[in-house]
Amino acid sequence: MAVEQTLILAKPDAVERSLAGEILARFERRGLKLRAARFVQASREVGETHYAEHKEKPFFGELVEFITSGPTLAFVLEGEGAIATCRKTIGATNPADAEAGSLRGDFALAMPDNLVHGSDSPASAEREIGIWFPDGLA
Ligand code: RTP
Ligand code: MG
Repeated sequence: MAVEQTLILAKPDAVERSLAGEILARFERRGLKLRAARFVQASREVGETHYAEHKEKPFFGELVEFITSGPTLAFVLEGEGAIATCRKTIGATNPADAEAGSLRGDFALAMPDNLVHGSDSPASAEREIGIWFPDGLA
């Protein structure tokens, strides 16, 4: 399996609930390497660009409101098969469907407060890292 990078967000609900460190630690304990991190209040432009694939959905407005509602801890993790492995650690999109043991299954209850974002493909990871780390990873 290829070594991949993925963009993870501890979303505003996670920061508000002081769970950002716990979330990062779960990934680090799996063996993923932290390559970059930024504590950032997303602008409307960043929120809309990040969630551009959902622009036509009825919940798009709520989604952008949510991701811009407070600071987010954005980080890049690297490891073998990082994208799929991180998605498993995060759990199903709707916390009500997330398995116990996953981040959403252990710490979240209902949408849109699902705590964490993880890139869903190599192309998404590259695009999203560019959005949240416009000056690069160094
Ligand atoms: P994310 O992008 O935030 O990591 O979440 P995800 O891949 O698990 O889910 P995705 O399909 O990309 O959806 C992005 C966010 O949109 C909200 N959502 N609401 N009301 C709905 O049916 C619905 N579907 C998705 C969720 O907050 C999800 O995180
Ligand atoms: Mg997604």
